[in-house]
Amino acid sequence: MALYSEKVMDHFRHPRNVGVIENADGVGEVGNAKCGDIMKIYLKIENDIIVDAKFETFGCGSAIASSSMATELIIGKPVSEALALTNKAVVEALDGLPAHKLHCSVLAEEAIKQALKDYYDRHGIAYDPKPLEPCDTCCLPEQEHDR
Ligand code: FES
Repeated sequence: MALYSEKVMDHFRHPRNVGVIENADGVGEVGNAKCGDIMKIYLKIENDIIVDAKFETFGCGSAIASSSMATELIIGKPVSEALALTNKAVVEALDGLPAHKLHCSVLAEEAIKQALKDYYDRHGIAYDPKPLEPCDTCCLPEQEHDR
């Protein structure tokens, strides 16, 4: 069986929503200290809906596929749904990632959360910090968190 699903390969070879949003309403940048990979997500939000999302990922194929899929999953959705997006949901939408690559999908969840926090801060919107904590409902075993 192939190590990567067809969806992962498709999103890696043809990533959706690559780029920058000028005048974004929220920008989130996260990095993985161990592998050195970096992911940056830009959000355009109108009337509480994510009308556009773009990303720049300097990282492995799984991180690129995860950011591509994550942006697809949140465009057109209310902020509350983007906030609830887990790395597990990204992995499922990609038809899986190898166990040693699950941490790459965590970057996508965390970058979106950072971008939403930035959106709240910039717009003076009060928020509950709990759902914005890193990897809140992450599917990684504890010891894998900072891999
Ligand atoms: Fe660093 Fe995938 S190996 S994010």
